[in-house]
Amino acid sequence: MGLNWSSSKVLVTGGASFIGSTIVDKLLERGAASVRVVDDFSSGVRTNIRQQVEAGDVELVEGDLRDPDVAEKSVQGVDSIFHLAADHGGRGYVDLHQYDCSTNFGLDATLFGTALKAEVERITFASSGCIYPLYLQGDVNEILYLTEDKAGPPYDPDGLYGMAKLAGELTLQALAREQGMKTASCRYFTVYGPRGVENHAVIAMIARAFLRQDPFEVWGNGEQIRNWTYVDDIAEGTILASEKIEDGTAINLGTMERVRVIDAVHSVCEMAGHDPEIRLDPDKPTGPMNRVADNSLAKRLLDWEPQTLFAEGLRKTYDWYVANKRPEDVSAIFDFMLTGRGKAAPVAAEKR
Ligand SMILES: NC(=O)c1ccc[n+]([C@@H]2O[C@H](COP(=O)([O-])OP(=O)(O)OC[C@H]3O[C@@H](n4cnc5c(N)ncnc54)[C@H](O)[C@@H]3O)[C@@H](O)[C@H]2O)c1
Repeated sequence: MGLNWSSSKVLVTGGASFIGSTIVDKLLERGAASVRVVDDFSSGVRTNIRQQVEAGDVELVEGDLRDPDVAEKSVQGVDSIFHLAADHGGRGYVDLHQYDCSTNFGLDATLFGTALKAEVERITFASSGCIYPLYLQGDVNEILYLTEDKAGPPYDPDGLYGMAKLAGELTLQALAREQGMKTASCRYFTVYGPRGVENHAVIAMIARAFLRQDPFEVWGNGEQIRNWTYVDDIAEGTILASEKIEDGTAINLGTMERVRVIDAVHSVCEMAGHDPEIRLDPDKPTGPMNRVADNSLAKRLLDWEPQTLFAEGLRKTYDWYVANKRPEDVSAIFDFMLTGRGKAAPVAAEKR
């Protein structure tokens, strides 16, 4: 298997996003014959793809993919789709905006149906660790690594966001089985890195340190365990999945490092030279207590392994943030972003 990117015409939906734009960059590095992005900029950021669009390396379709005409225009002449467009935010957003997240059912159905009609060969889907049953993830004392098979019945995904991702995966499996489309799903686990936004935990921690917040607020009791995974590793894994998986198989893309929220907070504060009082707030949205991937299937099927340890990725992300943000812009959007997403934020927090 494997793909010859130089003859591949690719669409990245949600390609102006943090992860989507990183995939766009990597596809261009691989010499993809053409790269089109469709994005409505509801949370995507124009500067993430501006250079590539201005240079003529990326064709931009600006519009809402839930509109069948936009979907049709986007998939026209395309061989391969990376589907990242979603109504999605961080923990605060997905917990408190269940209806908005439910619109992903319609978005995915429109895109998949339009792609099938247009005879698109392949779809690779940005799924999530949120598809895993919540009842498995409650005990911080358990050394739990979620293997892909644990996503089966009785399904208990993380809210309507997780349920829509699960439905997306199952639909793509049916498309592979019944319609011969080549499909794959990648279950991303808590992604962080440059271009990340403040509604996700690591960037929120960095923003608090950047704003010298004191007392420094931590959502939950700080004992929650996560396997934060660096964006370059996620983008590489997603492209490998599109090269090597055709039957709708879903794979975890996540590190197996177990990091407690409170330990990440201490690392960030140390980097920032900030020594605040820590204030735990157990009433805020926290998500499951114990969520870490098993990544052996991705190793076996894709020969993929995360290259970036958390300490190293955190340093790169912190340095990027400090170099690109201004405190006055960050403080203008920060409260909104903790539970919100995208362009409703009062001011764009980009220095350049
Ligand atoms: N960030 C994470 O930790 C994480 C974890 C698991 C899965 N994911 C998935 O990865 C994908 C990318 O997430 P992200 O964190 O990089 O940023 P994101 O949530 O901003 O990405 C979504 C992108 O889709 C665009 N979009 C949304 N609705 C659209 C519509 N109707 N029409 C056209 N474009 C639309 C947005 O403007 C944005 O660019 C999403 O599908 C998300 O669910 C992300």
